[in-house]
Amino acid sequence: MTSRSSWNTRNSDVAWAKFDPIAYVDHNYRCIQEDDAEILRIVRDHFADHFRTTDTTGPVSGIDVGSGPNLYPALAMLPWCEEITLLEYSPANVRYLEGQVMSYDANWDQFWDVLREHEAYRSLGMGPRDRFCRAVEVKEGDLFDLARHEGR
Ligand SMILES: C[S@@+](CC[C@H](N)C(=O)[O-])C[C@H]1O[C@@H](n2cnc3c(N)ncnc32)[C@H](O)[C@@H]1O
Repeated sequence: MTSRSSWNTRNSDVAWAKFDPIAYVDHNYRCIQEDDAEILRIVRDHFADHFRTTDTTGPVSGIDVGSGPNLYPALAMLPWCEEITLLEYSPANVRYLEGQVMSYDANWDQFWDVLREHEAYRSLGMGPRDRFCRAVEVKEGDLFDLARHEGR
């Protein structure tokens, strides 16, 4: 149950800089959980359907805001996004993400395995690590500053 006080906590009240990415990955993403697999199937099928039926001209940019040490939203965008920004506030999480760009850890293969059940992900034309490395840019920043980029 969530206490009333936690609903009143503002984002800026949380000590995001103390976030421990390794403990978080160990707890949540070392072994894929069924709820994450289900989220991935829904997002995968939604993206595949959207981009099959929508005429997109020019490169598509993706962003995951507050990505934390979670790569699977970016993996889900790979077939369609030439550039993917991982915007993250916590320096420790930024360092974790930067360390994954060149060649991400093996635990993320379980998440890719769910995605590659769909043809769109199997036909990338290169391995997911290479594609991830080319597309992903990690940015340390605050989502509340995005207002400066209104319209993007
Ligand atoms: C609950 S975690 C979720 C992490 C990840 N998206 C996931 O699904 O596992 C929230 C993340 O948002 C980041 N965050 C919090 N406030 C932020 C802000 N103002 N701008 C950017 N990132 C922020 C935190 O550092 C943390 O990594």
